[in-house]
Amino acid sequence: MHSFVYNVPVKVYFGQNQLGHLGEELKRYGTRVLMTYGGGSIKRSGLYDTIVAEIKQAGLELFELSGIEPNPRIDTVREGAKICKEKKIDVLLAVGGGSTLDATKWIAAGACVDHDPWDFLDRSKLAPVEKALPVLDVLTLAATGSEMDGGGVITNPETHEKLGRIVSPTLLPKVSFLDPSVTYTVSKYQTACGSADILSHVMEQYFNLEPDLYMLDCFMEGLMKTVIKYAPMALAQPDNYEARANLMWASSWAINGFITGGKQQAWSCHPMEHELSAFYDITHGLGLAILTPRWMEYCLDETTVSKYVQFGVNVFGIDSSLDPMEIARQSIKAVSNFLYDTLGLKRTFTEIGIDRTHFQTMAKRACNNGTLPGFKPLKQSDIEKIFEMCL
Ligand code: NZQ
Ligand code: ZN
Repeated sequence: MHSFVYNVPVKVYFGQNQLGHLGEELKRYGTRVLMTYGGGSIKRSGLYDTIVAEIKQAGLELFELSGIEPNPRIDTVREGAKICKEKKIDVLLAVGGGSTLDATKWIAAGACVDHDPWDFLDRSKLAPVEKALPVLDVLTLAATGSEMDGGGVITNPETHEKLGRIVSPTLLPKVSFLDPSVTYTVSKYQTACGSADILSHVMEQYFNLEPDLYMLDCFMEGLMKTVIKYAPMALAQPDNYEARANLMWASSWAINGFITGGKQQAWSCHPMEHELSAFYDITHGLGLAILTPRWMEYCLDETTVSKYVQFGVNVFGIDSSLDPMEIARQSIKAVSNFLYDTLGLKRTFTEIGIDRTHFQTMAKRACNNGTLPGFKPLKQSDIEKIFEMCL
């Protein structure tokens, strides 16, 4: 295994009734606060009023940017950066899911430079991210882990690109408030998509042939079992605190770098999915759910089968005495059953209106016109075949 540095200094307030600390935490970073949020769920749930009251009580000056889209767009980031400069904002408070958090991080970076924020993400430019305004967040959806990672993914509808970059620690939130009860109002569909996303984050790192730490593999198996156990509970009973709490903390730990353990290998389903979202504006977790079992099927061979066996036996309890290939096939079936039957997500591109039109372009971009060096290295032609399997 490789050596690594682990440094994720995000202060987390986990649990109910923690927002009383919001004012004091914001004050550490200044007095002029830009609160960012999405399309209105926080107003409907009453969270908006609670937060505004806390900010006012702390004597802070509040500015707002609303309407951050799912699959957030670069124009919104530009608008936010402009507000930060004009209003001399000291600190940002993102209240929402991964989209709001991601956009806010890039707004925070955009506020500190004179160039277009897209230059940070544009593959041909990759402008350095040296500074950003401090970002705090109140997470409302368990899915992306943006609350504990230093990255964000932004869509440019003009170029059909959806691009992200992890630039820890500059973009790490300073403080994340994780109250599982805030996620009671998340729809069944978004709960299912969020759970599929958490599962995928772990699988992208678990399905790896590099020599690894046994301890991290066990941790990942625990995270995956957590999603498999609690997502159905949250669907059946949206206000089940135990279920929401387990999903929320699993979302953070799936992507906060801990389970990476120095692995060099790239992710596979995520680059493919980001192309789908870029061209069709679909929900991230749904795209992953359609891709993942097909990717597993495509990558299965004599060289990779051992990982499927470990996964199938330890995560789904498949009989270890069976033939390894049989265990692998049963593992793929178990993942499909979970995503499509238990979570109720759609299983094909056709059902969600995706056809072959952009397969070539999307596949070429997903591997950056080269090779995706994931679990099994994938070239454009491989990715096109996986897309075909999803139809
Ligand atoms: O916009 P509002 O009105 O708030 O409604 C949102 C949105 O419609 C709603 N929602 C959120 N919290 C709610 C709620 N509805 C009711 N009650 C609540 N408590 O849910 C919808 C989806 O929200 P969104 O933020 O888009 O979802 P998610 O958290 O899944 O974020 C997805 C975005 O994150 C990116 C994805 O690509 C996608 O753009 N990702 C970010 C990552 C990261 N930062 O590391 C990694 C991920 O792999 C992913 O790529
Ligand atoms: Zn994801």
